[in-house]
Formats: sequence, structure tokens, C-alpha cells
Amino acid sequence: MTDDPRLVRSLEARYYTDHRIFEAERETLLAGTWQFGCHLSDLAEVGAYVTFEIAGESLFAIRGRDEKIRVFYNVCQHRAHQLVSGSGNTRVVVCPYHAWTYELTGQLRAGPNLKALEGFDRSSVCLTEVRSEAFLGFLFVNLDPDAAPMDEWFPGARAELEDWVPNWDRLKPLEWVEISENCNWKVSVENYSECYHCSINHPTFSTGVVRPETYDIQPQGYCLRHTTECQNLDAMTYDINSGFAHSHEYSSWFLWPMTSFQVYPGNVLNTYHWRAAAPDRVVVWRGWYTVDGTDDETIRRLAVQDRATTVEEDIHLVESVQRGLNSRGYRPGPLVIDPRSGVNSEHSVMHLQRWMREAVDG
Ligand code: FES
Ligand SMILES: [Fe+2]
Repeated sequence: MTDDPRLVRSLEARYYTDHRIFEAERETLLAGTWQFGCHLSDLAEVGAYVTFEIAGESLFAIRGRDEKIRVFYNVCQHRAHQLVSGSGNTRVVVCPYHAWTYELTGQLRAGPNLKALEGFDRSSVCLTEVRSEAFLGFLFVNLDPDAAPMDEWFPGARAELEDWVPNWDRLKPLEWVEISENCNWKVSVENYSECYHCSINHPTFSTGVVRPETYDIQPQGYCLRHTTECQNLDAMTYDINSGFAHSHEYSSWFLWPMTSFQVYPGNVLNTYHWRAAAPDRVVVWRGWYTVDGTDDETIRRLAVQDRATTVEEDIHLVESVQRGLNSRGYRPGPLVIDPRSGVNSEHSVMHLQRWMREAVDG
């Protein structure tokens, strides 16, 4: 069968099921893009550290005496034991295996009996550092030392977000909602990035928050920018009169490949970040924030409502898709691309799938 060249077919199933593609993605895509590390408020004090895993690598971020935050591979330069786990605060980094000790700058400081080593120069040993950037109060990392800065990947996104979330530097996480999905990370990310499925699957979102007929998603570099008009905001279950600009709007910034910032009416920031665990498993984190991390009934209610509605509805969709991708009977259908864009168009999925292909197939 020859295809009309005007049609854009969805990605073949193997991209979502083949463990070799998953491995290749770790090597290239996940290790060469900006990934969500942690919130900077977890690193407020000198010596504070947080571990996280990206592209199958254990990493840790730590604040030095010079106040600088550095990110290192979580591996001792002696015989490769892991250095730290979880989060905490320390004066120096001590390896649990033979007690080699590192400064917060990653420099080797001491180790039992090292003076027995003639010709060994301690200053030649340092933990391996990873590129990192602060963005809206979050720490992002990129395992590629030559990666372009985030502002080049996501033009305009930082300034827009700072405008939409004017109190961003005072926000702290209130809730981390962890969601495990039995599907490939790309199934989850694609589902997040189109609203062609919204009106039949997300009644609360479609009738309570946004006006689906105005929903649109457009690329802005490697950012997918979601914009929409909102429903009658008088019916909102919380007070949106924050006094800030954009308080009557909803918007989202998806930063390829695995992070999204959403701003709800009232300038309420919430985030998504994905971690690819296996070819058929992804963990999604929903973050909710308040000024200074103070408790807030409204935000807690929003987190609960979102988990019970949109998130729950999406889990069923993406897990069914993953089962379908394993079917011998699946032939990828055309993406529904409407030249006028809009909510019933999958042009955003076309962009995503281009980036997915580009990363794996070169
Ligand atoms: S492996 Fe870390 S001190 Fe030996
Ligand atoms: Fe959805």
C-alpha cells in the first residue's frame, strides 16, 4: 500500500515496545536533554544534597560553601561505590566503602593511608560534574557537557513563566503526587501533549477549567506551548484574584522531553515530570507549590481533584494504548493534522514524534 505523502503516520509500535530503542534513548535522548532534577528549596543550606536518577544514572546535587550548587555522578573515584542516597546535609562527602572523603566541590580531600601512595596527587581526583541550570526555582541537569543552554532549547519560556508565576522564587513544594503508569514514557508524553481526547475523556477539565474549542498547542523551539481560554471563572472552586497579571488564564509549557509547567487561573503553578523506568513503565510526578510551602487547603484540594479526575482518566488511556502497541494487529494510523490547528488536531504529536525519531534515528 502506498501512502499519500500528505499523511503523517503515527510512530511504529516498536518505538514504544523494543528494549533496544529504550536503551538507545537512554544513551542519546535522555542523556542529551534537559531533565528535571529537584526543587532548589531542597538545597537551601550549605552541604544540603539530593539524589535523583536520570537516564539510568544516579546523580546528586549539593550546595557548596561558595553557595554554588553542583551536580555530580553519584560514584566514588576509588572503586566505584555509590556515595550518597536520598537527601540530607553533610560537611564533606564520605564514601561508605573505604571512607575516601570529598569536598563539597567534588575535590578529593583525604582517604585512609593515601600517604602510602608515592607519586599520588590527591588534587588530580575530583568527582565527575554534570551540567546544571536553575529554572524558575528548579534545578535541571543535562548529561551532555556540550548541550545548549535551556534558553536556546525553550526560547521565551523562562521569561513567560516568570511573568505568569511572579512569586516563583518564594514557592516551595507542598505535595508530590507519584503516579505509576504501565506504558512507555512517550505514550504518556504524547497523551499529555494533545487535547483531541479531552472532551470525551476529561469532563472535569473540559467543563470546569478550559474551553476546549479554544485550546491550542504550538511549538516554541523544543517547548510545546499550550494556550486556552477558560470557562466561566466565577464557577471556579477557589479564589483566583491573586492581583497578578494573567490571573484569569490557564497555560502550560511542556519542555521536551519530560517536564511540564502548568499555570492554573490564579497563577497556581503545578508541574509534571516523567521518569522512564522501563520500556513499558513510566513514573509521573505531579508537583504542587505554595509560598514558603505553607499548608493551603485550596492547593491540597486541587491536587486531590486532579489525581481523581484528569490523572486517573489518563492512566486508563495510556495503559490501554500500551497494550494495543503490543498487538500484532496494530498498523499506525494517520495523525489528525488540521492546518488550522485547534483542539481536534494532533500537530503537536507530529512535532513530538519528529523529535523522538530524530533522537533515536539521527
Ligand atoms: S570505593 Fe569509595 S572509598 Fe573505596
Ligand atoms: Fe488526558
